[in-house]
Amino acid sequence: MIEIRDLHQAYTGRGGSVEVLKGIDLTVPEGSITAVVGPSGAGKTTLSHCISLLEKPTQGEILVDGSDLSRLRGRQLRSARRAIGTIFQHSALLRRITVAENVALPLRNLGVVHHEMQDRVAEMLDRVGLLHKADSYPGQLSGGQKQRVGIARALALRPRILLSDESTSGLDPDTTAQILSLLADLRTDLGLSIILITHEMDVVRNVADQVASLSHGRLAEYGSLPSLVADQDSTVGGQLLPIAALPLPAGFDTFLDLAYQDGDVDPEWFTRVAVDHQIRLALLGGTIEARGATALGRAVVGVRGEQAQRAIGALNGLGLSARLRSDVDRSGPTGTAISAASPDPTGPPPSGATPIPAGATAGATA
Ligand SMILES: Nc1ncnc2c1ncn2[C@@H]1O[C@H](COP(=O)(O)OP(=O)(O)OP(=O)(O)O)[C@@H](O)[C@H]1O
Ligand SMILES: [Mg+2]
Repeated sequence: MIEIRDLHQAYTGRGGSVEVLKGIDLTVPEGSITAVVGPSGAGKTTLSHCISLLEKPTQGEILVDGSDLSRLRGRQLRSARRAIGTIFQHSALLRRITVAENVALPLRNLGVVHHEMQDRVAEMLDRVGLLHKADSYPGQLSGGQKQRVGIARALALRPRILLSDESTSGLDPDTTAQILSLLADLRTDLGLSIILITHEMDVVRNVADQVASLSHGRLAEYGSLPSLVADQDSTVGGQLLPIAALPLPAGFDTFLDLAYQDGDVDPEWFTRVAVDHQIRLALLGGTIEARGATALGRAVVGVRGEQAQRAIGALNGLGLSARLRSDVDRSGPTGTAISAASPDPTGPPPSGATPIPAGATAGATA
């Protein structure tokens, strides 16, 4: 487990000191994958350099299994670095030595005896499915294979933490999926804490347990992936399942944004609202994905204004959070503000209906 507490990092240049990390608190539990996302310049790589002890933070603590790595010096620091394996964006293999020799490098630097080194290299290459390439040179491998060798090298010292900064960017979707599935297996088999820095939301959705979003050197959002998708106020949740909704069809005047709540959504929700509650719904956009046995989902439906509050109550009862979108017109999510639905005078008051926040547009593609 890794705990980051009040981490600050500042760089001093000609124009004075600039604080790039402004107090980050983050916990990555053992055996879990935490994705770190955020716009370019937010401080993701700086965070990764602090965690891998390449840079010394100006303030704060980095605790690995309880001991603070940021305070160490000399031999203790070198030894602590072994707890952290790093996978780089472009695998960073040496071209003139074989795959096996590349994986052996960190072991050789430590002075591990020859036969032990050979065994460890074979074990790691086997784990990433490339034992048969041991004697090849990096130039003879595909991009995905090189990345897997990079992972084998990062694992050679049996780290507790694996740090990946954009390690799948530039790979095609199939190769990316292979690398992600390998990382997920490593998390489970070796109990690694994995920190995955990426700008690819598909990657996050496929593999992350937790998501931390950085903005201007601060933690803007942090939570489990299902909880962020379920939270209609979460910006990251909207980016994880973006929806481009169709315009409202004739006879409908109100958009409802829906988010599946963690764990307990009736898969027949659409039919139940329509048939059991006699409410007309128009399905305008949505994404539903399996995550283990539960579903991640967001959707946009159209309703008639007089049925909107009853629809919200019914949807809430089926495990979806539903709320009126208040700042769109009939042409779709990018239009100007006109519509606000009137409550249904015939229906019961909504149970647990979410209030209408100003400017709610969750679920729309930005
Ligand atoms: N060694 C340095 N000296 C001065 N400023 C730096 C240094 N390293 C990073 N910065 C600045 O810190 C900020 C954060 O940089 P960082 O590389 O951590 O961003 P990032 O989130 O990884 O961005 P990207 O998604 O583009 O990789 C940037 O404004 C950058 O210019
Ligand atoms: Mg970066």
